[in-house]
Amino acid sequence: MSSESAGGKSPETAKIDPDSHATTTGMTGHGYYDANSRTQWNAIEAVLPILDSAAAQFPLQDEGVITFADYGCSEGRNSVAVMERALRTALPRTELPVQTVHSDLPTNDFGTLFLNLRPHGQSVFGSDRVFSSAVGGSMYDQLRPDRSVHLATTFNAIGFLSRRPVATLPGYILPNGPSAVRGNGFVTEDEKAAFSAQARRDVEDFLEVRARELVPGGQLLVQVFGATADARTSDGLYDLLNDAVLEFVQTGEIDRETYARYYQPVYMRRLEELTGPVLETGCKSAGLFDLNQARDYEITVPFVEQYRKDGDLDAYVAAYVHFFRAFTEAVLTNALPDTPERNGLVERIYARAEAILKEAPDLYPFRYLAVAMLLTRRP
Ligand SMILES: C[S@@+](CC[C@H](N)C(=O)[O-])C[C@H]1O[C@@H](n2cnc3c(N)ncnc32)[C@H](O)[C@@H]1O
Repeated sequence: MSSESAGGKSPETAKIDPDSHATTTGMTGHGYYDANSRTQWNAIEAVLPILDSAAAQFPLQDEGVITFADYGCSEGRNSVAVMERALRTALPRTELPVQTVHSDLPTNDFGTLFLNLRPHGQSVFGSDRVFSSAVGGSMYDQLRPDRSVHLATTFNAIGFLSRRPVATLPGYILPNGPSAVRGNGFVTEDEKAAFSAQARRDVEDFLEVRARELVPGGQLLVQVFGATADARTSDGLYDLLNDAVLEFVQTGEIDRETYARYYQPVYMRRLEELTGPVLETGCKSAGLFDLNQARDYEITVPFVEQYRKDGDLDAYVAAYVHFFRAFTEAVLTNALPDTPERNGLVERIYARAEAILKEAPDLYPFRYLAVAMLLTRRP
């Protein structure tokens, strides 16, 4: 999982650049994210009807190119499926060529993305009118020319903060804090406020740069894991990772300072935290978009459902830990001292997480909540 690709560092061992408007280098690469993101697909699938209406509504023009852009595409399996779906509605509406743009951080595993886009040397979209490209850059920056994008999407990505608003988080490894069930740590009110302010600035920045890129009337679908009144997508999962890491703190293999500096800079938003920067006056993204639809929802988690059906604990434990390893490994690796033992230590932390979960699966129940909104760029 931590091997280096021919082109340089893989996402999980590349260094996080503090000026990159990103706090991760990406998902675990070499097909690992693609293989372990069925749950994220379920969260996307639930909003495909919203995507259909966006693909039916973006404004058409007489000449040029229609552009669809997906931000935070990772290795591309889900991003390709999203574009396939949007094209189904969009292609019959126009005879113009359509460009699909798949964007993620420069350290993303773009090699796997390109293979997904052109399996067997042909476009995966099976149309001679569809042309695909990839763009490396932070989604919090402008990445496409002014007024060039007709339909923009982002799925399961905008929860990754653009910067770390606090240097240390000594009591836990995630801004939202531990679950009520487990309660294995703490996040202070001041720390919580710093993270929610950062999460808000991120949505404002994202909306501001997308507003520049979109044509008037262009559609923007924003979907991300999050929180509702009674649960957060972080519950269970980060409690487990926290418990696994703490065992290595207790043995002295990870020192207290390293643990205090380490956190996953990911924020679970409630729906009003997503829509606030669209609706509230006085912020820099106010007035840029009309809000067409917004919802929060819960999806079934494939590995949880499977375990309910067959009771196969080993399979459940493996799928659960592979699922969160795919999106936590890069940050965890970066947080540990860069020694020859580091990759081995990371392996052992995830192995420990499997063992802990196997011993007490009921302590770490996992649910997936998400929030989504569809916006129209104002003229
Ligand atoms: C959980 S994956 C989601 C991938 C895909 N959209 C899906 O739903 O399966 C989150 C993606 O967001 C990307 N990401 C995180 N921070 C980012 C940033 N600042 N700019 C662009 N992409 C970012 C990560 O590299 C990763 O590929």
